[in-house]
Amino acid sequence: MGRPVALIGRDLVTIDDLTNEEVEDILALAHRLDPDRQRVKTRGLLADQIIATLFFEPSTRTRLSFEAAAHRLGAQVIGFADATATSAKKGESLEDSVRTTSGYSDLIVLRHPEPGSARRAADASEVPVVNAGDGSQNHPTQALLDLYTIEKERGRLSDHNVVLLGDLRHGRTVHSLAVLLARFGNRLTFVAPEGLEMPRTVVAACEKHGPAPRQSDDLESAMGDADVFYVTRLQEERFPDTQQHRLFAGSYTVTPQVLAQARDDLTILHPLPRVGEIPTEVDVHPGAAYFRQAQNGVPVRMALLTRLLTETSP
Ligand code: NCD
Repeated sequence: MGRPVALIGRDLVTIDDLTNEEVEDILALAHRLDPDRQRVKTRGLLADQIIATLFFEPSTRTRLSFEAAAHRLGAQVIGFADATATSAKKGESLEDSVRTTSGYSDLIVLRHPEPGSARRAADASEVPVVNAGDGSQNHPTQALLDLYTIEKERGRLSDHNVVLLGDLRHGRTVHSLAVLLARFGNRLTFVAPEGLEMPRTVVAACEKHGPAPRQSDDLESAMGDADVFYVTRLQEERFPDTQQHRLFAGSYTVTPQVLAQARDDLTILHPLPRVGEIPTEVDVHPGAAYFRQAQNGVPVRMALLTRLLTETSP
């Protein structure tokens, strides 16, 4: 076991807030804490700590896996899943809500619809802020658990051909993940309907770390050399109106014909929720790892919370 990398007191707003060494340390700890292996006693690790989960946007996996992770570490959890029951409804600013909550807790996990909200919250907070999704911008803890899943499913986290499919313009998971994958020496292909392509800033960030990502609108031909296939849903809530969203509805689906183009050992990931882009027939594919991926949110978030809140190394 290597020396733990000290992250005490740090915020996690974008994936750039962690070095590759820090990412590897978090993933190594997640492997030790993973219920599949369960080598380590975890209940006492954060026994006196309070974690606040402030969710101004809907969530199933992210909030519940953060809360499960906190409970498994012995921490107490406060927070809300519906901001309409909070002072936000009375017009309180994000900064004031966060400043107040940081007086009640040792760490804040925040999800909020506005891009840049996590940075603002981190600036207003006395305690570390972890970004659990800020509008269409970033979702760094999802990227960590996605990389962890790739490592667990395939035995290594680098040197893969990865196809990312879907609404790459609005999807925050792919923004954080693409950069992280590039940093670890993976080759990327972006497949999106015209108008929903990966933002230039994300493409440029990937290019800084490795070969230029390929961009395509031909999914079947992109699948030929894929090792990992990362599918995302249309981000309906980010479209200006339902008419614009309707233009793209059903514009991509992972059909058996698509999968027939791929290698037998393909790993299929999705941050979930899915809304039709992966039909349930695909779930029996041995590489369909999206529910295992969702489960991996717990050990990865346990590892992150441990590193941010204690110098004890389990
Ligand atoms: C993602 C999100 O909220 O960005 N979900 C998640 O955290 N697992 C993906 C999505 O909602 O499409």
